Amino acid sequence: MYNSKIIGLGYYVPDNVVTNDDLSKVMDTNDAWIQERTGIKERRHVVKGDGDTTTTMGVKAAKIAIERAGIDKDDIDFIVFATLSPDYYFPGPGVLVQRDLGIKTVGALDVRNQCSGFVYGISVADQYIKTGMYKNVLVIGSELHSHGLDMTTRGRGVSVIFGDGAGAAVLSREEDTTKGILSTHLHSEGQHAEELSLIAPGMGKRWVNDIIADNDPNDESYFPYMNGQFVFKNAVVRFSEVIMEGLEANKLAPTAIDMLVPHQANLRISQFIQKKFQLSDDQVFNNIMNYGNTTAASIPIALTEAWEQGKIKKGDLVVLAAFGSGFTWGSAIIRW
Ligand SMILES: CC(C)(COP(=O)(O)OP(=O)(O)OC[C@H]1O[C@@H](n2cnc3c(N)ncnc32)[C@H](O)[C@@H]1OP(=O)(O)O)[C@@H](O)C(=O)NCCC(=O)NCCS
Repeated sequence: MYNSKIIGLGYYVPDNVVTNDDLSKVMDTNDAWIQERTGIKERRHVVKGDGDTTTTMGVKAAKIAIERAGIDKDDIDFIVFATLSPDYYFPGPGVLVQRDLGIKTVGALDVRNQCSGFVYGISVADQYIKTGMYKNVLVIGSELHSHGLDMTTRGRGVSVIFGDGAGAAVLSREEDTTKGILSTHLHSEGQHAEELSLIAPGMGKRWVNDIIADNDPNDESYFPYMNGQFVFKNAVVRFSEVIMEGLEANKLAPTAIDMLVPHQANLRISQFIQKKFQLSDDQVFNNIMNYGNTTAASIPIALTEAWEQGKIKKGDLVVLAAFGSGFTWGSAIIRW
C-alpha cells in the first residue's frame, strides 16, 4: 500500500469582480447585510461571451497544477471532476477535460457532491493511488454559478453567497505512508436533500418536458433553493464532527492542526469552527471575503492560495473539511 500526496495545486477565477454594492444595484440587498451574515465582500462572475465555462476554468486551474507538479499531462492516469454546475446535463465535464487537455484516453469520473465534492474527489483519488492502480490523479473542483442564479430580490438569500471559479490538485504516489493523505472521512444524510437543492431540470419532481410546456416565468425550480438557517445549524455540527473524526482516526488532538482549510461556505461557520477547536487566525485559512462560496472549487482555491502565500509548509498537518448539499460532508487529514 502507498499513500498519496498533493504534488501540484492551481486555481483560476474570472477577472470580473462583483462587489456587494454591485449586487445592490440589481436586487434589494446591501453590503452591510451580506458582510455581517456571510463575511463576503466580493465574488467573481463569468462575463457572458468571455468563453469561460465550468470546464474551461477547470482546465486552466489544472494546467497550473500539472505544471507545478512537474509532470507531463500524459503522466495523468485518471481524472476526477467535482461540480454542481456542469457545462452539459450529460456528459459530465471529466471527459471534456480529457479532451481539452489532450490527455490520452484515461478514465474520467464526475463527482456530484456539491460543496463536499473536492473532498470526495481526493478521497477517490487517494484510494486508487493507495492500491497502486494509478500513480497520478488530477482532481478538479470548478463552478460557474453566476448565470444559474436568480439575480432578483426573490433570489437574494442564495445569489449573494455564490461565486465562480476553479481549483485543481495533482495527487501522486507517496511511498512513505507517514506522509501525504493520512485518511479521508465521508458522510451523507439524504433525508435533507431538498434543503439545499436545485430541483430542475431533472427527471424527478420537475420534468424537462413539463418545464418547457409550462413556460412559467414564476417557476423557481430552475434556481437553487437553500434553507439558510437549517443549513447553518447542520453545517456547524457536521464540520466539527468530521474534523474530530479525522483527528481521532490518526490519534491526533486539535492542537496538532497547523492549517485548517474549511470549505468556504460562510465566514461565520469558519469562525464558529475556529473557536470550537481553539485555533488561532494563523491556523485557519479563509478567502470567502474575496470569492464568495465557490462550492466544489472553494477548498482547492483556498488550499492553493494558502500554499502560494507560504502558509503551508513541509511537515504541516493540514485538515480539509467540507459540508454542503445532500447533505454531504467530509474531511481529509494530510501530512504535507
Ligand atoms: C443565508 C444566510 C446568510 C441568511 O442569514 P439569516 O440570518 O439566516 O437570514 P434569514 O434567511 O433569516 O433572513 C433574514 C432577513 O433578511 C432578508 N434577506 C435575505 N437575503 C438577503 C439579502 N441578500 N440582503 C438583504 N436581506 C436579505 C430575508 O428576506 C429576511 O427578511 P425578513 O426578516 O423581513 O423576512 C444564513 O442562513 C447562512 O449563512 N446560512 C448558511 C448558508 C451556507 O453556508 N450555505 C452554504 C452551505 S455549503
